[in-house]
Amino acid sequence: MGSRHIPVLLEEAISLLGCVPHRIYVDATLGGGGHALEILKRTEPDGRLIGIEWDEEAIAEARKTLSPFGERVRIFRENFAHLSGLLREIETESVDGILLDLGCSSIQLEGQERGFSFRGESPLDMRMDQRTEETAADLVNTLPLKELEEILWTYGEERWARKIAKAIGDERDRRRIETTQALSKIVYRAIPRRFQSRKIDPATRTFQALRIRVNHELENLKQVLEEGWPFLKGGGRMCVISFHSLEDRIVKQTFRRLERGEPGGLNQQKMARILTPKPMTPSEEEERENPRSRSAKLRCAERV
Ligand SMILES: C[S@@+](CC[C@H](N)C(=O)[O-])C[C@H]1O[C@@H](n2cnc3c(N)ncnc32)[C@H](O)[C@@H]1O
Repeated sequence: MGSRHIPVLLEEAISLLGCVPHRIYVDATLGGGGHALEILKRTEPDGRLIGIEWDEEAIAEARKTLSPFGERVRIFRENFAHLSGLLREIETESVDGILLDLGCSSIQLEGQERGFSFRGESPLDMRMDQRTEETAADLVNTLPLKELEEILWTYGEERWARKIAKAIGDERDRRRIETTQALSKIVYRAIPRRFQSRKIDPATRTFQALRIRVNHELENLKQVLEEGWPFLKGGGRMCVISFHSLEDRIVKQTFRRLERGEPGGLNQQKMARILTPKPMTPSEEEERENPRSRSAKLRCAERV
């Protein structure tokens, strides 16, 4: 088990969500329960929380953290893309707020054997939901090189995508690529030394790209934004914390579209009011105390 996860933009997200008693909130990325704990405290004595998480290690941690709140909290092991189906199943017609805190938690990043980090040696796994089958090792060892290149280019915005894909191809002709270290070494060799940044590890983009693809992160995000929105009550809010530009763009564009309404489409009416014209970002103090918060952006919209 990794070290404790420090919730990012905690105060900002909780105030924007507008947590008050008697209401019901969804934390769709429960993790170890950091944000959820605060939501439950602020909604004493009877606010309720539906927690969604697909990683079994994180769920175990969240159950411990949130056990004092008894029946005020219900936890489901589920992909948040299936939020609307889940809410229907548990006969919840609408909710007052939905929080999404995307990406990985420290439980995952620092967990042995999870394969998310290029630091340390671990099997090349990267699945957040251990029930799914395809690991990062499966992708790097079996996908056509053109497809690997596209993944690195699109999800990692990696300008050396072609060279890295070729180097992966050369290596896997000799032996299967099984570990995080094996992959990092291939990337280090593929990117010319003079283009390697000292500040950012050269393997960062490759690892990000594979992680996004293994977990279908962007598709899941689009689905939860679209399908979750209609479940918000009037005045209910959706808050999303994202960690890279691909996610943030999806959130920004979806909120804008909901605010405009679809001209000529079924939903011509304005459905949202954006409360963060510019995304909120961590203070210098938070960045110092929790370097993982550095790239975080928080956007919030209200159902009208
Ligand atoms: C940044 S962490 C959340 C940390 C949490 N807010 C806290 O303070 O402890 C993101 C969590 O979302 C989970 N997650 C990511 N995508 C998911 C999805 N599609 N369905 C369910 N959980 C998901 C990850 O497994 C991870 O535990």
